[in-house]
Amino acid sequence: MRVLVTGGAGLVGSHTAEYYAKKGDEVIVLDNLMRSQLFGYDKKSVEYNWNYLAKYDNIKRIKGDVRNEKDVLKAIGDGVDVVIHTAGQPGVPLSVRIPREDFSINAFGTLNVLECLRKKSKNAVFIYCSTNKVYGENVDKIPLIEKEERYIYDGVEGISEKIPIDHTGHTPYGVSKYVGDIYTQEYAHIYGMKTAVFRMSCIFGTRQFGFEDQGWVAWFIIAALFSKPITIYGNGKQVRDLLYVTDLIEAYDKFIESDLRHAVFNIGGGPENTTSLLEFLDFLEAETGKRSKITFSDWRPSDQKVYISDISKVKKALNWEPKVTPKEGMKKLISWVKENKALF
Ligand SMILES: NC(=O)c1ccc[n+]([C@@H]2O[C@H](COP(=O)([O-])OP(=O)(O)OC[C@H]3O[C@@H](n4cnc5c(N)ncnc54)[C@H](O)[C@@H]3O)[C@@H](O)[C@H]2O)c1
Repeated sequence: MRVLVTGGAGLVGSHTAEYYAKKGDEVIVLDNLMRSQLFGYDKKSVEYNWNYLAKYDNIKRIKGDVRNEKDVLKAIGDGVDVVIHTAGQPGVPLSVRIPREDFSINAFGTLNVLECLRKKSKNAVFIYCSTNKVYGENVDKIPLIEKEERYIYDGVEGISEKIPIDHTGHTPYGVSKYVGDIYTQEYAHIYGMKTAVFRMSCIFGTRQFGFEDQGWVAWFIIAALFSKPITIYGNGKQVRDLLYVTDLIEAYDKFIESDLRHAVFNIGGGPENTTSLLEFLDFLEAETGKRSKITFSDWRPSDQKVYISDISKVKKALNWEPKVTPKEGMKKLISWVKENKALF
């Protein structure tokens, strides 16, 4: 199989590329390595993953931009069987500061990849990395109960694909990602392509370069290990479900192998794999013996107080379930950060 991974140097992309390389497939990675530049980080980040992938003979790395037709056509070459489109601007607060660039990467970039695929390789399967943020503040209409260390939903276990999307705030990120999401749906509907949308909640794993603005699990670990201060926006009782990155990729692969022509799934760790920020800080202290200096600040725009994915649809349709528990995943990530101190 020929597999194109856009954003292949990122967290999800580099694990996806490695997964297919290990299976013996021919993998093409397309990335312009702009993560550090986007987030104003003065060190290299995903360049590490780019170099890491060089050890696989069956991975071809192409530096290029998903917004550039020539770059995408070059990556598709004579055709591919699968495209996993992970390239994106993934930061919510950043999208508020740079809405135009956010739109161009997430919305236009996705349309550009879909359109190049339709022209050159229409039978390829297309996987889109969408987000829980497409539901915006509708999620906050669910009543919550406040406990000592976390909020819990009153009446539901998780958010299903049926929750309304519009008539609410989203942040520019939620909007630009939804544009890509709905184009992915449309390319199945109008052009008959096999496509899937995975609305992902909190994904984490090794080789994740977390910043305060994005990738909070990795950011909290890096901050704890290197004694950097952490700002918590809100009261720390916000809850997320966590999914280890390799479990996510198994779900992609199961869709690719399935007879389904199109699907939209919410995916994350689900109700059994959740943590609040306060609980996570306690876990980190127990695991590393370190606790960052914590400051509390105002809630950020459209920051969902609780987001837990209802994963019953994806579990049933793809015969899939998470295998790596959040604690196991966090331990892997802690070890990786410790082994790679020079990167941070
Ligand atoms: N990590 C999560 O928790 C999460 C949750 C929901 C959705 N998502 C989505 O999943 C995707 C992957 O997330 P991630 O955590 O791996 O992010 P990441 O930042 O680690 O990876 C994204 C990669 O895309 C590359 N990139 C950015 N703009 C590009 C462009 N114009 N052309 C080519 N490459 C470009 C970056 O250099 C980076 O290597 C993103 O689209 C994100 O919106 C992530």
